[in-house]
Amino acid sequence: MVKKMEQLYEGKAKKVFATDDPNYVIVSYKDDATAFDGTKRGTIMGKGAVNNRMSNFLMGKLSEAGVPTHFVEELSDRETVVKKVRIVPLEVIIRNVSAGSFAKRYGVEEGIVFDEPTFEFSYKNDDLHDPLLNTSHALALKLATKEEIETIRSMALKINDILKAFFADCGVRLIDFKLEFGRLPDGTIVLADEISPDTCRFWDAKTNEKLDKDRFRRDLGNVEEAYQEMMRRVFGK
Ligand code: TMP
Ligand code: ASP
Repeated sequence: MVKKMEQLYEGKAKKVFATDDPNYVIVSYKDDATAFDGTKRGTIMGKGAVNNRMSNFLMGKLSEAGVPTHFVEELSDRETVVKKVRIVPLEVIIRNVSAGSFAKRYGVEEGIVFDEPTFEFSYKNDDLHDPLLNTSHALALKLATKEEIETIRSMALKINDILKAFFADCGVRLIDFKLEFGRLPDGTIVLADEISPDTCRFWDAKTNEKLDKDRFRRDLGNVEEAYQEMMRRVFGK
Protein backbone atom coordinates (compact mmCIF):
# COMPACT_ATOMS: atom_id res chain seq x y z
CA MET A 1 0.00 0.00 0.00
CA VAL A 2 1.26 3.49 -0.81
CA LYS A 3 2.02 6.07 1.85
CA LYS A 4 0.19 9.42 1.93
CA MET A 5 2.55 12.41 1.61
CA GLU A 6 2.09 16.17 1.16
CA GLN A 7 -1.04 17.83 -0.23
CA LEU A 8 -0.55 18.74 -3.89
CA TYR A 9 -3.81 20.50 -4.61
CA GLU A 10 -7.17 21.40 -3.14
CA GLY A 11 -10.11 21.62 -5.53
CA LYS A 12 -13.72 22.51 -4.83
CA ALA A 13 -14.79 18.98 -3.92
CA LYS A 14 -11.54 17.03 -3.43
CA LYS A 15 -8.00 17.27 -2.14
CA VAL A 16 -5.12 15.50 -3.85
CA PHE A 17 -2.09 14.16 -1.97
CA ALA A 18 1.25 12.90 -3.23
CA THR A 19 2.31 9.36 -2.28
CA ASP A 20 5.66 7.63 -1.97
CA ASP A 21 5.05 6.22 -5.48
CA PRO A 22 5.33 8.88 -8.23
CA ASN A 23 2.76 7.03 -10.35
CA TYR A 24 -0.01 7.32 -7.74
CA VAL A 25 -1.83 10.06 -5.86
CA ILE A 26 -4.49 9.88 -3.15
CA VAL A 27 -7.74 11.80 -3.60
CA SER A 28 -9.76 12.77 -0.55
CA TYR A 29 -13.41 13.66 -1.11
CA LYS A 30 -14.87 16.61 0.82
CA ASP A 31 -18.46 17.40 1.86
CA ASP A 32 -18.05 20.91 0.39
CA ALA A 33 -20.44 21.72 -2.43
CA THR A 34 -20.19 24.59 -4.88
CA ALA A 35 -22.21 25.64 -7.89
CA PHE A 36 -22.07 28.34 -10.54
CA ASP A 37 -18.25 28.47 -10.69
CA GLY A 38 -17.91 28.38 -6.93
CA THR A 39 -20.14 31.40 -6.27
CA LYS A 40 -22.72 29.29 -4.40
CA ARG A 41 -21.18 27.37 -1.51
CA GLY A 42 -22.43 24.91 1.04
CA THR A 43 -21.92 21.59 2.72
CA ILE A 44 -23.69 18.35 1.90
CA MET A 45 -23.15 16.10 4.91
CA GLY A 46 -21.85 12.68 3.89
CA LYS A 47 -21.37 13.68 0.24
CA GLY A 48 -17.64 12.94 0.21
CA ALA A 49 -18.20 9.33 1.24
CA VAL A 50 -21.09 8.84 -1.21
CA ASN A 51 -19.15 10.26 -4.15
CA ASN A 52 -15.98 8.34 -3.30
CA ARG A 53 -17.69 4.99 -2.92
CA MET A 54 -20.09 5.40 -5.84
CA SER A 55 -17.42 6.64 -8.21
CA ASN A 56 -15.06 3.79 -7.34
CA PHE A 57 -17.83 1.22 -7.77
CA LEU A 58 -18.83 2.62 -11.17
CA MET A 59 -15.24 2.86 -12.35
CA GLY A 60 -14.84 -0.81 -11.38
CA LYS A 61 -17.84 -1.70 -13.55
CA LEU A 62 -16.49 0.35 -16.45
CA SER A 63 -13.08 -1.21 -16.21
CA GLU A 64 -14.67 -4.71 -16.28
CA ALA A 65 -16.33 -3.58 -19.52
CA GLY A 66 -12.95 -2.59 -20.98
CA VAL A 67 -12.89 1.16 -20.24
CA PRO A 68 -9.50 2.18 -18.79
CA THR A 69 -9.80 4.37 -15.66
CA HIS A 70 -7.52 5.99 -13.10
CA PHE A 71 -8.95 3.92 -10.22
CA VAL A 72 -6.47 1.85 -8.19
CA GLU A 73 -7.68 1.19 -4.63
CA GLU A 74 -10.26 2.48 -2.16
CA LEU A 75 -8.51 3.26 1.14
CA SER A 76 -11.45 4.42 3.25
CA ASP A 77 -14.89 6.03 2.98
CA ARG A 78 -13.33 9.21 1.63
CA GLU A 79 -9.90 8.31 0.30
CA THR A 80 -8.83 6.51 -2.85
CA VAL A 81 -5.54 5.79 -4.59
CA VAL A 82 -5.66 6.73 -8.27
CA LYS A 83 -3.13 6.80 -11.06
CA LYS A 84 -1.44 10.16 -11.43
CA VAL A 85 -2.54 11.64 -14.74
CA ARG A 86 -2.24 14.92 -16.60
CA ILE A 87 -5.86 16.04 -16.88
CA VAL A 88 -7.10 16.93 -20.36
CA PRO A 89 -8.64 20.37 -19.67
CA LEU A 90 -12.00 19.49 -21.21
CA GLU A 91 -15.28 18.85 -19.41
CA VAL A 92 -16.94 16.21 -21.53
CA ILE A 93 -20.72 16.18 -21.30
CA ILE A 94 -23.07 13.50 -22.59
CA ARG A 95 -26.81 14.11 -22.56
CA ASN A 96 -29.67 11.65 -23.05
CA VAL A 97 -32.48 14.01 -22.07
CA SER A 98 -32.71 17.83 -22.17
CA ALA A 99 -31.93 19.54 -18.86
CA GLY A 100 -29.75 22.21 -17.29
CA SER A 101 -27.66 24.43 -19.55
CA PHE A 102 -28.90 22.63 -22.71
CA ALA A 103 -32.52 23.49 -21.93
CA LYS A 104 -31.56 27.06 -21.06
CA ARG A 105 -29.22 27.67 -24.03
CA TYR A 106 -31.63 26.37 -26.66
CA GLY A 107 -34.84 27.55 -24.98
CA VAL A 108 -36.45 24.13 -24.61
CA GLU A 109 -38.13 22.42 -21.68
CA GLU A 110 -36.34 19.84 -19.54
CA GLY A 111 -37.23 16.20 -20.12
CA ILE A 112 -37.10 15.87 -23.93
CA VAL A 113 -35.69 12.41 -24.68
CA PHE A 114 -33.08 12.53 -27.47
CA ASP A 115 -32.97 9.92 -30.26
CA GLU A 116 -29.18 9.84 -29.91
CA PRO A 117 -27.02 11.03 -27.00
CA THR A 118 -25.37 14.43 -27.50
CA PHE A 119 -21.63 14.94 -27.01
CA GLU A 120 -20.13 18.30 -26.11
CA PHE A 121 -17.18 19.67 -24.26
CA SER A 122 -16.26 22.84 -22.54
CA TYR A 123 -12.90 24.33 -21.63
CA LYS A 124 -12.19 23.48 -17.97
CA ASN A 125 -11.49 27.02 -16.76
CA ASP A 126 -13.56 28.54 -13.92
CA ASP A 127 -12.25 32.09 -14.59
CA LEU A 128 -13.75 31.89 -18.08
CA HIS A 129 -16.88 30.04 -16.78
CA ASP A 130 -16.02 26.78 -18.60
CA PRO A 131 -16.90 28.04 -22.11
CA LEU A 132 -18.36 25.60 -24.63
CA LEU A 133 -15.88 24.56 -27.35
CA ASN A 134 -16.02 22.71 -30.62
CA THR A 135 -13.28 20.36 -31.84
CA SER A 136 -11.53 22.98 -33.96
CA HIS A 137 -11.40 25.36 -30.98
CA ALA A 138 -9.94 22.62 -28.77
CA LEU A 139 -7.34 21.87 -31.46
CA ALA A 140 -6.50 25.57 -31.96
CA LEU A 141 -5.97 25.94 -28.21
CA LYS A 142 -3.91 22.70 -28.21
CA LEU A 143 -6.03 21.30 -25.37
CA ALA A 144 -5.94 17.83 -26.96
CA THR A 145 -4.96 16.20 -30.24
CA LYS A 146 -7.43 15.04 -32.89
CA GLU A 147 -6.72 11.41 -31.95
CA GLU A 148 -7.26 12.14 -28.25
CA ILE A 149 -10.59 13.87 -28.96
CA GLU A 150 -11.73 10.90 -31.05
CA THR A 151 -10.69 8.48 -28.28
CA ILE A 152 -12.47 10.59 -25.67
CA ARG A 153 -15.65 10.75 -27.75
CA SER A 154 -15.85 7.00 -28.29
CA MET A 155 -14.99 6.26 -24.64
CA ALA A 156 -17.64 8.73 -23.42
CA LEU A 157 -20.34 7.19 -25.62
CA LYS A 158 -19.41 3.68 -24.48
CA ILE A 159 -19.50 4.85 -20.84
CA ASN A 160 -22.98 6.26 -21.49
CA ASP A 161 -24.25 2.92 -22.81
CA ILE A 162 -22.88 1.06 -19.78
CA LEU A 163 -24.05 3.55 -17.16
CA LYS A 164 -27.49 4.08 -18.70
CA ALA A 165 -28.17 0.34 -18.54
CA PHE A 166 -26.73 0.04 -15.03
CA PHE A 167 -28.81 2.92 -13.63
CA ALA A 168 -31.96 1.69 -15.37
CA ASP A 169 -31.58 -1.47 -13.26
CA CYS A 170 -31.47 0.79 -10.18
CA GLY A 171 -34.73 2.52 -11.15
CA VAL A 172 -32.87 5.67 -12.17
CA ARG A 173 -32.82 7.61 -15.45
CA LEU A 174 -29.36 8.87 -16.42
CA ILE A 175 -30.24 12.29 -17.83
CA ASP A 176 -26.76 13.69 -18.45
CA PHE A 177 -23.28 13.65 -16.94
CA LYS A 178 -19.83 15.19 -17.06
CA LEU A 179 -16.58 13.25 -17.48
CA GLU A 180 -12.93 14.19 -17.30
CA PHE A 181 -10.08 12.28 -18.88
CA GLY A 182 -6.37 12.12 -18.08
CA ARG A 183 -3.16 11.11 -19.81
CA LEU A 184 -0.88 8.47 -18.30
CA PRO A 185 2.87 9.08 -18.70
CA ASP A 186 2.85 6.97 -21.90
CA GLY A 187 0.01 9.08 -23.34
CA THR A 188 -2.80 6.56 -22.82
CA ILE A 189 -6.14 8.27 -22.20
CA VAL A 190 -7.99 7.04 -19.10
CA LEU A 191 -11.22 8.08 -17.42
CA ALA A 192 -10.38 10.28 -14.40
CA ASP A 193 -12.11 12.55 -11.86
CA GLU A 194 -15.41 11.09 -10.55
CA ILE A 195 -18.85 9.80 -11.48
CA SER A 196 -21.30 10.79 -8.76
CA PRO A 197 -24.47 12.76 -7.98
CA ASP A 198 -22.21 15.86 -8.24
CA THR A 199 -21.41 15.14 -11.87
CA CYS A 200 -24.53 13.38 -13.17
CA ARG A 201 -28.23 14.14 -13.34
CA PHE A 202 -30.26 11.25 -11.93
CA TRP A 203 -34.07 11.22 -12.07
CA ASP A 204 -36.19 8.57 -10.39
CA ALA A 205 -37.57 6.31 -13.13
CA LYS A 206 -41.12 6.37 -11.77
CA THR A 207 -41.56 9.90 -10.43
CA ASN A 208 -38.77 11.87 -12.17
CA GLU A 209 -37.76 13.15 -8.75
CA LYS A 210 -34.25 14.66 -8.91
CA LEU A 211 -31.67 12.57 -7.03
CA ASP A 212 -28.52 14.63 -7.66
CA LYS A 213 -26.75 17.94 -7.08
CA ASP A 214 -29.53 19.91 -8.78
CA ARG A 215 -31.26 19.69 -5.37
CA PHE A 216 -28.40 21.85 -4.01
CA ARG A 217 -28.00 24.06 -7.11
CA ARG A 218 -31.74 24.84 -7.19
CA ASP A 219 -32.44 24.85 -3.42
CA LEU A 220 -34.92 21.98 -3.72
CA GLY A 221 -34.29 20.62 -0.21
CA ASN A 222 -33.61 17.00 0.85
CA VAL A 223 -30.12 17.22 -0.61
CA GLU A 224 -28.42 14.76 1.78
CA GLU A 225 -31.38 12.41 1.43
CA ALA A 226 -31.01 12.33 -2.36
CA TYR A 227 -27.31 11.40 -2.12
CA GLN A 228 -28.11 8.65 0.40
CA GLU A 229 -30.97 7.39 -1.77
CA MET A 230 -28.58 7.09 -4.74
CA MET A 231 -26.22 5.06 -2.53
CA ARG A 232 -29.07 2.69 -1.68
CA ARG A 233 -30.03 2.38 -5.36
CA VAL A 234 -26.46 1.61 -6.44
CA PHE A 235 -25.36 -0.68 -3.58
CA GLY A 236 -28.71 -2.07 -2.49
CA LYS A 237 -29.56 -4.01 -5.65
P1 TMP B 1 -25.19 21.51 -17.44
O1 TMP B 1 -26.54 21.15 -17.95
O2 TMP B 1 -25.20 22.54 -16.34
O3 TMP B 1 -24.25 21.88 -18.55
O4 TMP B 1 -24.57 20.18 -16.77
C1 TMP B 1 -24.45 19.00 -17.50
C2 TMP B 1 -23.94 17.89 -16.58
O5 TMP B 1 -22.64 18.17 -16.12
C3 TMP B 1 -24.79 17.70 -15.33
O6 TMP B 1 -24.96 16.31 -15.12
C4 TMP B 1 -23.98 18.29 -14.22
C5 TMP B 1 -22.57 18.18 -14.70
N1 TMP B 1 -21.73 19.30 -14.32
C6 TMP B 1 -20.57 19.09 -13.60
O7 TMP B 1 -20.25 17.96 -13.27
N2 TMP B 1 -19.78 20.16 -13.29
C7 TMP B 1 -20.10 21.43 -13.64
O8 TMP B 1 -19.35 22.37 -13.31
C8 TMP B 1 -21.31 21.65 -14.39
C9 TMP B 1 -21.70 23.03 -14.81
C10 TMP B 1 -22.08 20.55 -14.71
N1 ASP C 1 -18.80 22.33 -9.71
C1 ASP C 1 -19.28 23.54 -10.31
C2 ASP C 1 -18.80 24.80 -9.65
O1 ASP C 1 -18.73 24.99 -8.46
C3 ASP C 1 -20.71 23.71 -10.49
C4 ASP C 1 -21.72 22.65 -10.68
O2 ASP C 1 -21.50 21.46 -10.49
O3 ASP C 1 -22.83 23.09 -11.00
O4 ASP C 1 -18.53 25.69 -10.36
